[in-house]
Amino acid sequence: MTSTARLLAFGDVHGVQYLGVLRASLKSIQPEGLHAILLAGDIIDRGDVSSMSMVLREITSRFKDVPIVSVFGNDEYHEIEDYLIKNFSYVIWLNDSVTVLKAGDVTIGIVGSRGSLDKLTYWQSKNMPQLETVYRRRVGVLRKLLEEVSKVSDIAILLTHYAPTYQTIKGEPEKIYPYMGCRHLEEVIREVKPDIAIHAHAHNATVTEAVIGFTRVYNVSLPARKGVTHISIAPRVKLVRMDAGAQR
Ligand SMILES: [Fe+2]
Ligand SMILES: [Fe+2]
Repeated sequence: MTSTARLLAFGDVHGVQYLGVLRASLKSIQPEGLHAILLAGDIIDRGDVSSMSMVLREITSRFKDVPIVSVFGNDEYHEIEDYLIKNFSYVIWLNDSVTVLKAGDVTIGIVGSRGSLDKLTYWQSKNMPQLETVYRRRVGVLRKLLEEVSKVSDIAILLTHYAPTYQTIKGEPEKIYPYMGCRHLEEVIREVKPDIAIHAHAHNATVTEAVIGFTRVYNVSLPARKGVTHISIAPRVKLVRMDAGAQR
């Protein structure tokens, strides 16, 4: 039995655009002992659903029976979410929801979401102004889900498309940070302390890892990393506080 979870994570394949990068980097990954593959969104490009099966085939042909967990990116448009859920039902789609997986004798709780932005993009404010409320409320929703999952899992993970901090989007122009991530989620991470947080969306980031309190944050954007991200994680040692009576 193992007590370390071995994960593979990536986002921003954008269909054929970075398919070659994905294919080349998967070659160096040993399939044995892999517990889950986490997709951080923008797997397809501009809503083109035809490329989803192409990308997923790259994974399933190499990694048999490894659970695939995915969130939607901004290129998996809201209107195709149902199509993707229905036609790729072997993928565990998370949309402000949770899944708990087994990795040997360890449980991994994953909270997945598209994530939030501090500011709506020009297109969003013109076409979907209601997203401002969605993003604001989502911070509270994700906090609650993370608190719950932390209680029932050995390892808690936040998986989003948008960045939950500005620290792992450095390298992008500073003026677009509010359109790439949400600093309120950084407070949630600091306070709820999931083991790791994974996101994509920032293709041009040059800093792709950071630590917020107890949590390591990974930007797994394929173009930023030039390949997939391999993560090994063991459950944190939980300190048991003994009161004076228990010590006697
Ligand atoms: Fe992207
Ligand atoms: Fe994106």
